[in-house]
Amino acid sequence: MDFSKEYTKEQFYWGTEPHKAVTHLLNFIKSGEALDLGIGEGKNAIFLAKNGFNVEGVDCSIEGLEKVKKLAQINGVLVKTFCTNINEFKFIKRYDLIISTFTLHYLPKIKAHEMIRKIKDSTKNGGFNLITIFTRNFPDYSLKMEKKFDLYLFEKNELNNLYLDWEVIKYSEEIKLDKSHGKPHYHSIALLIARKI
Ligand SMILES: C[S@@+](CC[C@H](N)C(=O)[O-])C[C@H]1O[C@@H](n2cnc3c(N)ncnc32)[C@H](O)[C@@H]1O
Repeated sequence: MDFSKEYTKEQFYWGTEPHKAVTHLLNFIKSGEALDLGIGEGKNAIFLAKNGFNVEGVDCSIEGLEKVKKLAQINGVLVKTFCTNINEFKFIKRYDLIISTFTLHYLPKIKAHEMIRKIKDSTKNGGFNLITIFTRNFPDYSLKMEKKFDLYLFEKNELNNLYLDWEVIKYSEEIKLDKSHGKPHYHSIALLIARKI
């Protein structure tokens, strides 16, 4: 899904406030090396940078990364960005925290699973992952819709099951009504916070 057109607009398409779960993370980890996969316009990454993390972010949209730079400047922080497909990103170091919000469902199932394996491998022992993705558990779900939007929607507990060897601190699947764009529609959102043991 290409959000570049939205990212060229003056306002921040995803807003500038971090996801609630990202703020919640600070209860568990206070600083370190962090990576945001699918950084978008940077609302989560910049919150982490402001709170003591060295943050890197990856996105395939150069327009998104321009917004990250702008938001970083406004907030007086630095975020190192990489403009590439996350499938091509070279994980050359290990991180204390890796987050990916609302991005991995844009990969085909096999790539999404591969990416989660890379994310887990590139997390230091005792480090954290925060992942949010869409699942197929909502009223209007159809395979046709996955094809139309080029998504892979995770099955019930699929994300959780990929973290059975970690300490899962939070896992939830919730149906939410989205009125932010187009006709109001439902998303089922899986959210996971886990610690590598
Ligand atoms: C729904 S947005 C979420 C942005 C941000 N994580 C947030 O929560 O505000 C998904 C982002 O992932 C990026 N993206 C999707 N698939 C990608 C891929 N294969 N490689 C790199 N970036 C990707 C898009 O450009 C977009 O910025």
